[in-house]
Amino acid sequence: MWRIKSLDAILRTAEKKSLHRSLGPVQLTLLGIGAVIGTGIFVLTATAAQKAGPGMMVSFMIAGAVCAVAALCYSELASMVPVAGSAYTYSYAVMGELVAWLVGWALILEYALGASAVAVGWSGHIVGLFDAIGFHIPHALTVGPKIAIGNFLEGGEVGGFINVPAVFITILVTALLILGTKESASVNAVLVAIKVAALTLFVVLTVPMITGHMQHFHPFTPRGWGNPLGSSGTGVLGAAASIFFAYVGFDAVSTAAEETKNPQRNVPIGLIGSLLICTIFYLLAAGGAVGAFGAQPLVGPDGVPYAAGSPELAAQCTAIGAHAPLVCSKEALAYVLREVGHPFFGNVVALAATIALPSVVLLMMYGQTRIFFVMARDGLLPPVLSTVHPKFKTPWIITLVTGVVVALFAAFLPVGQLADYSNSGTLFAFGAVSLGVMVLRFTDKTRVRPFRTPLLFLVAPLSIIGCITLFLSLDNKSKMLFYSWTAIGLVFYFSYGFWKSNVRHGEEADEPLVEGPGGVPL
Ligand code: ALA
Repeated sequence: MWRIKSLDAILRTAEKKSLHRSLGPVQLTLLGIGAVIGTGIFVLTATAAQKAGPGMMVSFMIAGAVCAVAALCYSELASMVPVAGSAYTYSYAVMGELVAWLVGWALILEYALGASAVAVGWSGHIVGLFDAIGFHIPHALTVGPKIAIGNFLEGGEVGGFINVPAVFITILVTALLILGTKESASVNAVLVAIKVAALTLFVVLTVPMITGHMQHFHPFTPRGWGNPLGSSGTGVLGAAASIFFAYVGFDAVSTAAEETKNPQRNVPIGLIGSLLICTIFYLLAAGGAVGAFGAQPLVGPDGVPYAAGSPELAAQCTAIGAHAPLVCSKEALAYVLREVGHPFFGNVVALAATIALPSVVLLMMYGQTRIFFVMARDGLLPPVLSTVHPKFKTPWIITLVTGVVVALFAAFLPVGQLADYSNSGTLFAFGAVSLGVMVLRFTDKTRVRPFRTPLLFLVAPLSIIGCITLFLSLDNKSKMLFYSWTAIGLVFYFSYGFWKSNVRHGEEADEPLVEGPGGVPL
């Protein structure tokens, strides 16, 4: 189980298709922003407010900082091993099959449940837009039922049944992926413009309102700073662990390293540039939301704030009805604008999110199919999964399986909980990559590194500490789900992958079968 896939075999795969180096710093930054801005800022701002109150502004900074150091580590490996399959592939080459399996297994949480979270975020906006034009979708068809499975799955609302819009967008994206849709650079540029314009509009309208409403910033940290060793997932750190989701997706930049001109210079510019731009927008938007409307958590009759995303919070929000606090909204930014006297612009922001979020669902589901595909090709998952459609040339069985999983979770769980589950997997994978890049500096000193992480032995430990701190700051449910998921993964590995692995049989798969975005071989 410690066997590694040789880096040379992986690189042979990549070399079969050498890509034209065409991307410059601006395109890379746009690629990053396109993949990053999504449900996190447009929706989870409400979750963060329930967890931290106005202090969520600090949460945005903490989550952005952890992502920045993780991103720098990610890029060194991405530029050395420029094949898709991301963290899973890197771990296979560096730390062996078992670690790779665990990372790949965790990435299923990141991508599949992340896609579910964004689909639910999309649902919140389309429902709000329909409401605005007087077409009310029955409540039961917009949220899942109240469910509680053991200690790790909870959500939905009394009176909810199934989130139909979220299922709808998932089916649509699945179909597009099976037909072989890829997001082109020009479509991405348009969507980036729409998202940035919507955030700019929000900031311009709300930030000037801050001065008249300084009282909205007091108390600044009504739920404290959070305790990673506790279990509640609240306070500034708890909100940072959730809002981390708003930054996920920058690995799109790392995996494009191979197509980048002068990657040593341009990859860090693209990564740090897109993260910096997003962080600034997020901070201004969060500050604007707090200043214009307020972001205090909703407190129960016993004086204890409700758990974010809990059925109890949802019930209280329903009881309040119109003009509820920010924490009740499923479309935070649009809601704030509507409530502070800009209903038209609120709808404009909701429309922008409705147009732009499906591409984030697409990118995440695409990432998931790619990971499944590579794992199946390595023999760790049943080979039938990597069947390529004869006409569309896409891995259609995997895409279908992914679509069903994403739709099921999106149908029944709330967005905040899904994002937290997703983050648990992402944080594990980022931590593993940060460790791997240090290991590889010792085990493979001489290999060419098109991009070297600056101050690696400072940056990588910081990244690992950051990932662990945020992971521990998630709520207990998310941590329990992660541990259970990992346990299932271990059982699966030792009863299947361990025996079937191609590396075990001495067959190192090095045939690229399907192309990813920009022609990167899967
Ligand atoms: N960062 C992406 C979003 O917030 C996943 O939707």
